[in-house]
Amino acid sequence: MNPQSVSPKHIALIMDGNGRWAQSRGFPRLEGHRRGAETVRHLVQYAPALGIECLTFYAFSSENWKRPEDEVSGLMRLIKTYFSKELDKIAKENVRIRIFGDLNPEGKLGTEIVNILRNSEEKTKEKTGLQVNFCINYGGRDDLVRATRALAKKVQLGTLDADDISEDMVSRHLDSTGLPDPELVIRTGGDHRLSNFLLWQASYSELIFTETLWPDFTVERLEEFIHQYAGIDRRFGGLK
Ligand code: FPP
Repeated sequence: MNPQSVSPKHIALIMDGNGRWAQSRGFPRLEGHRRGAETVRHLVQYAPALGIECLTFYAFSSENWKRPEDEVSGLMRLIKTYFSKELDKIAKENVRIRIFGDLNPEGKLGTEIVNILRNSEEKTKEKTGLQVNFCINYGGRDDLVRATRALAKKVQLGTLDADDISEDMVSRHLDSTGLPDPELVIRTGGDHRLSNFLLWQASYSELIFTETLWPDFTVERLEEFIHQYAGIDRRFGGLK
């Protein structure tokens, strides 16, 4: 069988282990995040050759604000640099970027970063190649809360009947609107949990957990997991 015919089209990644990777080498934690961003760049470059159409990266969760201030500000600097300096290179690779998360300019991210992130979406919106989503200031519960608010407002305005709210309608009000759910979620760093990542969208995803720390994660490792996925029988709660 052609392996690409069974490849997952959408893979979502929880990038854990940057801090440990850095500390075990005597580097500051931020160096782990910087190397982690390089891993992202490699995967984005090689994903289309593996038959992948969409990648979603968990870059900064709504809970990550609880980290020490210097780590948070370092991560914000990294995000700013990545989305301003890398953008032209990314756009040349025909990649389309979307950001999932609370991008309210009056919120915690602040207007400067929100503008940079929105600009990366705007600049790549006509691209037709790989779809890459970055979850920034993102939480799966918060995604659902924001969708619920949007639906409640429509009901309040009288443009929507509450009885007409369906699963499909909820999906269309989430940050991932219009995109397929991930078939595969991979978490590096050894922990076995979702940590508030794509809670709705990952309902039927296969989950793969690996001890590999994110900066050590490679395209070859991704390919191995794609093959592992291809051997899995997906039943969606039914019998096949
Ligand atoms: C978790 O590792 C990782 C994060 C909280 C940040 C992930 C961000 C990046 C890889 C940078 C990517 C950014 C862009 C813009 C592509 P951890 O720090 O919790 O690791 P630990 O469990 O070893 O402490």
